[in-house]
Amino acid sequence: MTSWVHVAELRELSRRKKKLVVVEGRAIALFLLDDEVHAIDDVCGHKQRSLVKGTVLDGQVICPGHQWKFDPRTGQAEDQALCQPVFAVQVTDDGRILLDPVPRVSTPRGTVAVPEAPHEASEVSP
Ligand code: FES
Repeated sequence: MTSWVHVAELRELSRRKKKLVVVEGRAIALFLLDDEVHAIDDVCGHKQRSLVKGTVLDGQVICPGHQWKFDPRTGQAEDQALCQPVFAVQVTDDGRILLDPVPRVSTPRGTVAVPEAPHEASEVSP
């Protein structure tokens, strides 16, 4: 079951089209692109620069570190074998941005949830 967390108001993204939020200790960058809000892990998986400090061009987030381009919808880096975690987002009728803190990663079969702390395998009876 999804646990939605209220992280921001839509009007907060109206001017700069981006905002940094911290959810459960994790920095997450929100981007408003084509009237849709996308959430991507803010810490670049390459050399840990902040993606929210980057620029958006042609629907891609350009990291300020080494200019790798990330698709904020999937987290996939263009021309790189790196995928940033992304987060499911919904915007309510009254403009509240809700986020599911369970990260998702893009796979060939689509975007799947990846719990941060997997359960330990339990013993199986013979
Ligand atoms: S730190 Fe993001 S591309 Fe290098």
